[in-house]
Amino acid sequence: MTEKDFIPKEYSAVVEEGKVTWQSPSNIALVKYWGKKENQIPANPSISFTLDSCQTTTTLHFQKREKSDSFEFELFFEGERKESFRPKIQKFFERIEEYMPFLKDYSFKIETSNSFPHSSGIASSASGMSALALCLMSLEKKLDPTMPEEYFTRKASFLARLGSGSACRSIEGELVAWGEHNGILGSSDLYGVKYTHQVHENFKNYQDTILMVDKGEKQVSSTLGHDLMNGHPFAEKRFQQAHENLDLLKEVFETGDLSAFIKTVESEALTLHAMMMTSQPYFLLMKPNTLEIINKVFDFRERTGLHLCFTLDAGANVHLLYPEKEKKESLDFIQTELLQYCQNGQYITDKVGKGAKQLA
Ligand code: PMV
Repeated sequence: MTEKDFIPKEYSAVVEEGKVTWQSPSNIALVKYWGKKENQIPANPSISFTLDSCQTTTTLHFQKREKSDSFEFELFFEGERKESFRPKIQKFFERIEEYMPFLKDYSFKIETSNSFPHSSGIASSASGMSALALCLMSLEKKLDPTMPEEYFTRKASFLARLGSGSACRSIEGELVAWGEHNGILGSSDLYGVKYTHQVHENFKNYQDTILMVDKGEKQVSSTLGHDLMNGHPFAEKRFQQAHENLDLLKEVFETGDLSAFIKTVESEALTLHAMMMTSQPYFLLMKPNTLEIINKVFDFRERTGLHLCFTLDAGANVHLLYPEKEKKESLDFIQTELLQYCQNGQYITDKVGKGAKQLA
């Protein structure tokens, strides 16, 4: 499919008013997306576990009005008016207008809330942008009731990508790939696709405990972060490495080799941070407690032979990934030895999830 396939022809129905609600999860990348081209096209392919309980719930109220030349929307976050979200949503609407030509025919009220604590440092753009994209797709489906299910899902991911790249991996579960890669069936730069190759049962219900090391505002915005890869001295090698790591993970998913999984996933996390440490300007996003946790995880593995591993986003918080069958020992260790490194002892237990849901 190309971008043009997402430009609708004529709508067959008239919709005056209504509301829709979607609940959409966050996701955690195993092979990281870092660097992009124009129009949110990724510089390299990525793959992520969709999460289960870290999610955003968004209700979109819509009311038909005279078409005007500006967008009309009100924003509420956790019950309160939230004007600080306006520029991001305005920009999102501008980017997707070509694909959603009805936007200026409606006034919208967007109500949104997160399951995770506010400003916890958990990326809310993936769950937030995917939830909004899905709400808009539900409205489009009312305008075009014959829309096929597959088109709905693809286009939701396509729109979410235009809001925030990684958001396109939050529509479906349990593993989603985004970015063209030879070894992955149906993969595209335009949207995320469900990973349909063989996945060993070791990866079923994989656990993710998120340790909140630093709940502060993001030090580096994603936009600036991706930009740092333009002209980065190691960029080309890194983009190529992401392809190689995807091939490695594909094999790992088949064989269930947890040691190989750890090697690839941890290396991806450290590479992401290495890219930030070696860009100009450079950023150091890990905190002392991030390193304390990582070293303790190495120790724990050495001592127990279990398969707890870490990954990081563009921040100081640590995602700890482990197989369901090692849940008890891993969680005991986390609770007794690692919570001391979390801000106010805060952490979230999550696991791999099945993707977004529409609520009644
Ligand atoms: O979706 P963005 O533009 O916020 O980028 C997110 C990038 C990482 O979270 C660091 C990696 C990834 O693939 O999710």
